[in-house]
Amino acid sequence: MAEAASGRKNIVIGVGGGIAAYKVGSVIRHFTEAGHGVRVIPTESALKFVGAATFEALSGNPVSTEVFDDVPQVAHVRLGQEADLVIIAPATADLMARAATGRADDLLTSTLLTARCPVMFVPAMHTEMWEHPATQTNVRTLREQGATVITPASGRLTGVDSGAGRLPDPQEIALLGELLLERPDALPYDLRGVKFLISAGGTREPLDPVRYLGNRSSGKQGYALARAAAQRGAQVTLVAGATADLAPPAGVEIVRIKSAEQLSDEMTKRAPETDVVIMAAAVADFRPMSVAESKIKKTGDGPAPIELTTNPDILAGLVEARRSGQIPGEVSIVGFAAETGDEHHGVLDHGRAKLARKGCDLLVVNAVGDGKAFGMDHNTGWVLAADGHETALPLGTKTLMASRILDAVLALRTDEGAMRPDGGAPKVDATANTDPV
Ligand code: CTP
Repeated sequence: MAEAASGRKNIVIGVGGGIAAYKVGSVIRHFTEAGHGVRVIPTESALKFVGAATFEALSGNPVSTEVFDDVPQVAHVRLGQEADLVIIAPATADLMARAATGRADDLLTSTLLTARCPVMFVPAMHTEMWEHPATQTNVRTLREQGATVITPASGRLTGVDSGAGRLPDPQEIALLGELLLERPDALPYDLRGVKFLISAGGTREPLDPVRYLGNRSSGKQGYALARAAAQRGAQVTLVAGATADLAPPAGVEIVRIKSAEQLSDEMTKRAPETDVVIMAAAVADFRPMSVAESKIKKTGDGPAPIELTTNPDILAGLVEARRSGQIPGEVSIVGFAAETGDEHHGVLDHGRAKLARKGCDLLVVNAVGDGKAFGMDHNTGWVLAADGHETALPLGTKTLMASRILDAVLALRTDEGAMRPDGGAPKVDATANTDPV
């Protein structure tokens, strides 16, 4: 793998012959705009959907499909050797079958054999083709060979049918590609069958028919956790409040809520059926005492006629429900703390106190304020465990932070329960293979 100068990386984008090829232009654009060098290698059939001129114009590089097109440059060896990341999108059933068996019958499959960098297949096909045992065997083989195979999205497919097999949103493909550039081993398929319940975004507390009390949470960190967990094989339900305009993570069930009370209802109802609960949502601590039926009018210059009451502490409630047996003892509970620090105590001191107060197993602490964390794409912080174990999370994308938080969750659950305050039994057998992929 060649290290490009000044953070500039060499990205190979392989394009298979599927209708979703037309969406790949946005992925190419993402990486060229980020300053990386992009080489597009389509298959012959990909060029039936999108012309070579489009890929050449978007990447700024020539495009060929055949090993014999550029013989003096030995392109089929050089492109793979020099790559820092290979993304195959759309990865068709045929292309994955050829890759899984080590075929080298065109420039793209030859490049795959010479690449030693992270390789990410992004499948897109009809549900029947995706679910076919032959395809699933190829997916498993590719994963065993060290490639990342993305779980496709569900939704409308070509024609009138819908189901699993849709190409994930290009924004999601770009985020996962960036993650593999930052941390090549960030997406092992090691959370197979583990059920995650993750809250994300901000709550909105209604005041009257036109107003609410809200906060600045973008939801990016909770979405990143859902995205990374799903791509590591977990079964993820994301309970989402108000967020920025974010791509829905592929393979994740999304439940929408607005207020803290709705969030509390969803989390309390679903937690007993899950393995890991992560409260990444920014929950309003207060809500208006009552919701006015008509728009609240000004009352002269005096104080606003709004009385507030305290919302339930959902995280503490979940911990209490586990203590009292309403939630099984094996469910792991993870909280977040956004802290600014003050004249007496630093961010980490506040985090330690909050971990003790909330009683959860892990607390992810971020520093906020001064343009940090809220709405940003990058984040830094610590994971504090109830047993006193503390892990620093270096500055990186929120997806990178998510992958490290998931590592801490996995350690918690495979470590003989040693980090659990109640010493609960471990639930995850990281080697278990309970589903086909
Ligand atoms: N949280 C919750 N219910 C609330 C408030 C917060 O479940 N009503 C959760 C958040 O999702 C987060 C954790 O508790 O996982 C800490 O949130 P934070 O707002 O930092 O905590 P507070 O308890 O509100 O503490 P503070 O007094 O510092 O605001």
